[in-house]
Amino acid sequence: MPRYLDNVGKTPLVRLPMADVAHADVFAKLEFANPTGSVKDRAAQYIIEALLGSGEIDRDTVLIESSSGNFGIALAARAATYGMRFICVVDPMIASANLLLLNALGAEVVQVTEPDQFGGYLKTRLRRVQELKRSFARSYWIDQYANPLNAEAYARTLGAELCDALPRIDYLFAGVSSGGTITGISWRMKECFPTAKVIAVDMEGSVIFNRPSRKRYIPGIGSSIVPAILSRAKIDDVVIVDEAETIAGCHALVREHGIFAGGSSGSVFAAISKFFRGRPAGPRAVVATLFADRGDRYIDTIYDPTWAARFTARDSFDAASPTAQKGHLDALS
Ligand SMILES: Cc1ncc(COP(=O)(O)O)c(C=O)c1O
Repeated sequence: MPRYLDNVGKTPLVRLPMADVAHADVFAKLEFANPTGSVKDRAAQYIIEALLGSGEIDRDTVLIESSSGNFGIALAARAATYGMRFICVVDPMIASANLLLLNALGAEVVQVTEPDQFGGYLKTRLRRVQELKRSFARSYWIDQYANPLNAEAYARTLGAELCDALPRIDYLFAGVSSGGTITGISWRMKECFPTAKVIAVDMEGSVIFNRPSRKRYIPGIGSSIVPAILSRAKIDDVVIVDEAETIAGCHALVREHGIFAGGSSGSVFAAISKFFRGRPAGPRAVVATLFADRGDRYIDTIYDPTWAARFTARDSFDAASPTAQKGHLDALS
């Protein structure tokens, strides 16, 4: 009998009729159906099991990762059941629900407070990770931005499930943060469907695809570093969305499909419309995407009408919101 946490993957695949994408059949994998509520269960499960299996770590190894979101939660749940210590390095931008959840799952939360030279916290968090690594005889830094196991997890699970479920895929849309998901899926996509186009979805203000950095407000998508793992991805095109488009995408998912999903789901949904808008109708295309997490932890942001409405006038949002003034969201994966 599998443990609860072993029930990773085999998530539902649903068809999303989209009025503004009339000449495509759009399918979404509901990744929020994973045990801790996000696509990151796939990476956490795969990486921990692979490392334990190879003997690179054992139950006395202290796991360390810099994460303020879904990955930290997925790792914390597994570390707890194995009786392993897990130190999660976070910063003041962490959503209060995620902080409570990490604590409830038994993670040892280390919060950095000093901003780095860019006004964000990523560099400070990574420095703290190095210090922590040095302070234990047996420790392992997961390093989702560079660890090849991160991409391998998605190639072997999500990529394989998509290939098995659909007879053809013409376009695959995925949000990018650490780059693990899109890198792994892209390998698999090109094997099964060599003509498939892999489309990365990134947030305005993220530097992943060489665009200017600016404050970002929605966690899970975008980054203030270029992830090393992405150098191995097979990406054909990039669609950039902003907060207003992401929020509109999330609300449309609820209204049109009854799907209450997190920020990056709204981003990819909006990106699909944006990509196909105005394109001449060619042969019917099969489009696949994934909805990475649920809407619950965005209830006081994306789903709060007051918070959301401010994005129609960004300047007034910057001036009005104390949270907004704290600095960059540093790759809250
Ligand atoms: C909600 C959400 N969407 C998308 C992603 C992007 O996944 P990746 O880090 O594999 O690029 C993440 C990563 O944490 C996420 O939390």
